[in-house]
Amino acid sequence: MNKLFVVGISLALGIMTAVSASAAGDAAKGKASYAVCLACHGADGMGNKALNAPKIAGQEIWYLERQLKNFKAGIRGADPKDTYGMQMRPMALTLANDQAIADMAAYLSSLPKDKPTAATVKGDISAGKTAYMICQACHGPTAGGNRALNAPRLAGLQDWYLVRQLKNFKAGVRGTKSGDTYGMQMRPMAMVLANDEAINNVAAYIATLK
Ligand code: HEC
Ligand code: HEC
Repeated sequence: MNKLFVVGISLALGIMTAVSASAAGDAAKGKASYAVCLACHGADGMGNKALNAPKIAGQEIWYLERQLKNFKAGIRGADPKDTYGMQMRPMALTLANDQAIADMAAYLSSLPKDKPTAATVKGDISAGKTAYMICQACHGPTAGGNRALNAPRLAGLQDWYLVRQLKNFKAGVRGTKSGDTYGMQMRPMAMVLANDEAINNVAAYIATLK
C-alpha cells in the first residue's frame, strides 16, 4: 500500500514536471522551425525592409507568443487592408500548436537584439520626444517595454515598422478585432497622434532609443 502510494506520488510529480517543462519554450526546437521564417526576417531575426518584415530578434517572449497567436487566430493579419499582416498570417499558421509557438518565441527572444537598425523616417526628433511622454507610461522611458502593463519593447524596432503599426492602429486595421485585449489598449494611444507628421516624429524619436 505504502509502496503504491509512493509510486503514485512520484508519478504525479513526474507528470507535473513534464507539464511545466512543456509550458516553457525550447529554443532549440524553435530554431529548427525558424527555417521558414528566415527568408523574410533574416538569419539573425533583424528583419528586411525590402520584404517589409520587421526585426523580431530579442523581443520579449510573452509579446512574441501573443502576436503569433493573434496572427493564427486572425486577430491580426486578417483585415483586407492589412497588406503586410496578411503576408505574415500564413507563416504563423505553420506553427502547429501553443508549444510550437512557445518554442519559436524562446528562440527569437534568445537572438541578440543589440544590432542597430538604420534610420529611414524623417521626423522632428524633439517634437517626437515630447509626444513620447504619453507613451512612456506603458512602454517605459527608454522604450524597453513593461510586461506588467503588457506593453512591448519598442527600442530597436525599425522606424518604418513603427510608423506602419501606428497607422494600422489609428485606422483600426489593428486593435479592433474582438479578442484583441491589448491591441485595444494601444489603439486610443495611436489616435492621440494627430497626423502622419506626428507619427513620423515619434517613430524617429523611438529609433534613437537603445
Ligand atoms: C513572407 C515573409 C515572411 C515570412 C516567411 C515570415 N514573416 Fe513574420 N512578418 C512578416 C511581415 C511582413 C510582418 C509585418 C506584419 C505587419 O506589418 O503587421 C511580420 C511580422 C511578424 C511578427 C510581429 C512582430 C511584432 O513586432 O509585432 C512576428 C512575431 C513574426 N513576424 C514572426 C515570424 C515567424 C516566427 C515566422 C516563421 C514561422 C515568420 N514571421 C515568417 C513577413 C514574414
Ligand atoms: C496604456 C498603455 C500604452 C500606452 C500609453 C501606449 N501604448 Fe503602445 N502598446 C501598448 C500595448 C498593450 C501594446 C501591445 C498591443 C498588442 O499586443 O497587439 C502596444 C503596442 C505598440 C506598438 C506595436 C509594436 C509592435 O511590435 O508591433 C507600437 C508601435 C506602439 N505600441 C507605440 C506606442 C506609442 C508611439 C505610444 C505613444 C503615442 C504608445 N504606444 C502608447 C500599450 C500602450
